[in-house]
Parts: sequence; C-alpha cells; structure tokens
Amino acid sequence: MNVPASERRLYIKTYGCQMNVYDSERLADTLRPLGYRLAEDPAGADLVVLNTCHIREKAAEKVYSELGQLARLKAQKAAAGEAMLVAVAGCVAQAEGAEIVARQPAVDLVVGPQAYHRLPELIARTHRAAGERLAADFAPEEKFDSLPERTSSAVTAFLTVQEGCDKFCSFCVVPYTRGSEFSRAPAAIEAEARALVARGAREITLLGQNVNAYAGEGGLAGLIRRLAKIPGLARLRYTTSHPRDMTDELIGAHAEVEALMPYLHLPVQAGSDRVLKAMNRGHTAGDYLRLVEKIRRARPDIALSGDFIAGFPGEREADFEATLDLAREVAYASAFSFKYSRRPGTPAAQAPGQIPEALKAERLARLQAVLEESQAAFNAAQVGRVLPVLIDKPGRDAGQVAGRSPYLQAVHGQGPQSLIGQVVPVRIASAGRNSLAGALQLAPA
Ligand code: SAH
Ligand code: SF4
Ligand code: F3S
Repeated sequence: MNVPASERRLYIKTYGCQMNVYDSERLADTLRPLGYRLAEDPAGADLVVLNTCHIREKAAEKVYSELGQLARLKAQKAAAGEAMLVAVAGCVAQAEGAEIVARQPAVDLVVGPQAYHRLPELIARTHRAAGERLAADFAPEEKFDSLPERTSSAVTAFLTVQEGCDKFCSFCVVPYTRGSEFSRAPAAIEAEARALVARGAREITLLGQNVNAYAGEGGLAGLIRRLAKIPGLARLRYTTSHPRDMTDELIGAHAEVEALMPYLHLPVQAGSDRVLKAMNRGHTAGDYLRLVEKIRRARPDIALSGDFIAGFPGEREADFEATLDLAREVAYASAFSFKYSRRPGTPAAQAPGQIPEALKAERLARLQAVLEESQAAFNAAQVGRVLPVLIDKPGRDAGQVAGRSPYLQAVHGQGPQSLIGQVVPVRIASAGRNSLAGALQLAPA
C-alpha cells in the first residue's frame, strides 16, 4: 500500500538520557524532508522509532516489552492492509544489533547513534523492498554535518557538542554504545545555537556524555564564552560533567559568565575510595570534595547535582556509609541514584562480591532519604527570595505559567501565557520536593 508522502506519520518514543532527546528531535528533522510528520501515538504512525537506552537492565528490557506491543499493533494493521515500519535506534541498537531482530522479528530497522543521518536511506530501501519508493538523497557523511537545520521552536533547547566516552568506568556501557570521545567544531555549534535562538530558544543546554571533556578549540569554557555573546540567548547550561575534566577555566566561567546558570551536574557515584577505584573513576572522594569547594568558592550559590550507584560489587557497609557521608557533606540540590545493574560486557559484571538485590534496594532507600532531605532543604531555602524564572510553558492549572529557576528548579505561578519565553522575577512563596510556587513580579502596565 502506498502512503502519499504528505501523509506519512512518525512516532518516536525516547528512553534514556538527554542526548537521546536531542537525537530524537534530530531524527524527526532528518525524516521531515521525506514527508514524515509527528503522530500522537504508535497507532497513528507509519513509522515507529524507539530511541533506546542500554544503561541499566531495566531500561533495556523495557524496550523489548514495548516492541512486543508494537508487534501486535503491526499485525493488526497488516490485517487491515496498512503498513507500519518499526525501527530501533539508540544504545540498545548499538549494543545488541542484529540480536534485536532475532528476538523480535517485527523490527524492520536497527540503527545505532552514529548512523542516524542514514535513516532516510535505510527507510527508502525498506519501502522499496515493500514496493514503495522514497526519494532520499542524503549522503552518508558524518552524523552532525549531514543533519538538516533545526526546526525546534522551543524556549529551551538541547545542543549536543560532544559525544562518546573514553573513561571506561567499570560499570558502564556508554563507551561501548556511544564510542570514543568526539567533539564538534565550535563554528558548527555556534551556527546551530544561532539557528535555535532565531527560532525562539532563550536557553540552550550543551550536551555531552562527558561535556566538560569537550576538546574543540578553547575547550568547553571557551565555547560557553563564545555562545554567551549570541544576542537573545539568556541562559546556558551544560551536562554531564566528569570530575576529572572540571578545569579551572570552566570553574572560572561560572564566576564570570552571566548567562551560565549556577547549576552543575557532577556525578560522583560513590564516596568510598576503595569503590571509586574499583569503578575506575580516576578520582578519590577527597579529590571530589576539594573540587566542590573550589567550585563553590567561584560561585557560592551554585546548585550541585550528582549521580550515585548503590550496591556496586564489593561495596561493604562502611563503603556505603562513606557515600552517605559524602552526600551529606556536599548537600546536593538534586541527585539521581540507582541500584547497581550488571551490564554484559563491562568489567564490573564479572567482579566478585556482587551484592544481593535486597541489600542494594535497602542501601538505595537509605541513600535516597539523605538526598531527598538535602533537596528539600535547598528548595526550602529559596522561600522568600526573588528568583529570575525563564517561563517556558503553560502551568498545570488555568492561568498559570511554569518555568525554571537558575538552579533548574521547576517554578510555577499565576501569569499570562504571553510571558512564555521571558525571564520574569518570581517571589518564591512555597517549596515542595520537586517544585516551587511563587508570585510573578510583573511591572505595572
Ligand atoms: N557520563 C555521565 C553519566 C552517564 S550514565 C557520567 O560519567 O557521569 C548516567 C548514570 O547512570 C551514571 O552517572 C551512573 O550513575 C548510572 N549508571 C551507569 N551505569 C550503571 C549501572 N551499570 N548500574 C547502575 N547505574 C549505572
Ligand atoms: Fe559511563 Fe563513566 Fe563514561 Fe560516564 S564517564 S559515560 S559513567 S564510562
Ligand atoms: Fe542510555 Fe545511551 Fe544515554 S545508554 S543514558 S541512552 S548514552
């Protein structure tokens, strides 16, 4: 059956990190010239892409249960004479490749993160096999250079500047799924940033698996200073940073660049030197704490965020308590924490001293109690302050708008939708665990 190019529908489901969010948006941009518009749900789509994550077992398994549902939908559609292509993209695609098709034959295409620019060509080929031709004249060049112009008109946008990882933490699949570190050229990044700002972006978050390992000219600090000059761009953020790559130049930028927001996601994973060594993190707890001190000297109000793993192989009670101590000492404004998940092919998966599930769960709960307490304290400390909030969307209730504080806290208050895209002072009236509420300080008309 031939679907007219004007009516092709695409549904993308995104798992995992912000880089996948960026990639999904770029995938949609890539497919737009083929006539694909976004569908609301898989049922209304001719092409479904799952952009997957391999970081923990649960994330990867979710993909297969979703694929099972899609296989049923595809069979129903086929019975009704409708075709639907199913594509798997992202880190599961990279890690498991052809195994995916073996496990779920309904999958038509598997495409890894470095090959998204080839998706139109792959789809054209699949359609041709099914009797349909699509005109696709994308040269399979390097990923970023061959992606089309951004079409996002969101107030806040992601921009990938660095991809891949050379750190090989012993628990982590990323170096295998995303490959070695690659940095885009500053000029290409600036051009993309300018295009985003021209379409309405006020805030850009620079992305990289190790964003502060950005190796383009001038490093990440140089890039931030360059982008901060773009007229109309109010805010810059970056994520995720590795403690080993936190240079003095970058710390200095936090003190000097006004557009650079006082928020830093700086994963530590654990607070015990024994465990950090086994993780191959390349830093001690002391190194990390000294770094935090230095960053806070440069930018005293900075909100710190982190990632933690509970129950790494060989983690003893005393090791875990060192993690709790570090978490208390840093007093994170927010944090992500996970039970250690054994990932095939990574060194830690083979390590002795694997921790039973129940103990991992118990430790995670204790850790999360500490992290939630400091997050609540950080949020509560904002009550009474006036914070500049970038309004980026309508609020949940009628007459409300919502946005983010400099510290990345969600903030909502009463105000007209016309404020979306503006930075508005908000007097914070109350703080919950995950958001703040306040009164917008609007100048009298
Ligand atoms: N590049 C980033 C993080 C990438 S993965 C960094 O180095 O900080 C995001 C987070 O997932 C990691 O920080 C880690 O806390 C968690 N993670 C990675 N592998 C994991 C595993 N096998 N089990 C549990 N958590 C894991
Ligand atoms: Fe994974 Fe470590 Fe690389 Fe982060 S630095 S992506 S945790 S290997
Ligand atoms: Fe997941 Fe790949 Fe990101 S494994 S966390 S989607 S880099």
